[in-house]
Amino acid sequence: MTGVVAPHTVDAERLRPERSGNPIALITGANKGIGLEVARQLGALGHTVLVGARDAARRARAVDQLRSGGADAHGIALDVTDGASIAAAAESILAQFGRLDVLVNNAAIKLEFDPAPPSAATMEVVRETFETNVFGVIAVTQAMLPLLRLSRAARIVNLSSGLGSLTLSAFIGTKFQAKPMLSYNVSKTAVNSITVQFANELRDAGIKVNAADPGYTHTDMTLNQGGKPVARGAAVVVRLATLDAAGPSGAFFDENGPMPW
Ligand SMILES: NC(=O)c1ccc[n+]([C@@H]2O[C@H](COP(=O)([O-])OP(=O)(O)OC[C@H]3O[C@@H](n4cnc5c(N)ncnc54)[C@H](OP(=O)(O)O)[C@@H]3O)[C@@H](O)[C@H]2O)c1
Repeated sequence: MTGVVAPHTVDAERLRPERSGNPIALITGANKGIGLEVARQLGALGHTVLVGARDAARRARAVDQLRSGGADAHGIALDVTDGASIAAAAESILAQFGRLDVLVNNAAIKLEFDPAPPSAATMEVVRETFETNVFGVIAVTQAMLPLLRLSRAARIVNLSSGLGSLTLSAFIGTKFQAKPMLSYNVSKTAVNSITVQFANELRDAGIKVNAADPGYTHTDMTLNQGGKPVARGAAVVVRLATLDAAGPSGAFFDENGPMPW
């Protein structure tokens, strides 16, 4: 993290009231995998999709792909580990779109590929994983909150994982216990807690905050071994991003329904 982002980095004087038009959705790490598919599905539902991505060429390719599929897609330079990049992204969204209706905290890394005992984890990998998967989620959420507060019904979806579930990890003999990857799993447990913390704060503001487990999905993160196609992995994220007023907040879902924390 190259800089710490204050909770309200955007000058309140410059915030404009909600305008009519498409819902505006920012998806972090949207240049490939589940993030790109979430952008595609939200675009198909009529959202203006903001492709948050750190690499200019990969970002442009994703925007082109989404536009050629008919979506109203725009690139937003965003490295979730870089405070200056996050602040610039919030400024740019404010200037171009005036508010945000949906934030999908999707960007993440998994540096461990083979399960290993927690005692063998290196602090270097733990710290690097947390910069993206945990501190990145907090920093992006804080920076985007002034824009989300301008929406009539803002939604935040945090990408978690069944591997972050304490309940499932504690069951002896489950597939979750068989996959100890300390840095990644603990980072997703933290994402679950972040989800509850923000949901509690934002309940009265009408902003719903939920965590989604896409399931074991066919992407680069799983070395394309996950069984699920991205269209299925992304569906639960899109469902939580488009909840109506009666929908839950502070909950954890996969495609089958509520997940245990
Ligand atoms: N795939 C699964 O089976 C599975 C299961 C459970 C949960 N999840 C979660 O679902 C989410 C998406 O996973 P995925 O499988 O689609 O992974 P992926 O294919 O590896 O894509 C990860 C995305 O995050 C971006 N990213 C990483 N670090 C970033 C940073 N510092 N700033 C901005 N973007 C950054 C990557 O951008 P670059 O291209 O620039 O690296 C890429 O766009 C993650 O939160 C993951 O933990 C996935």
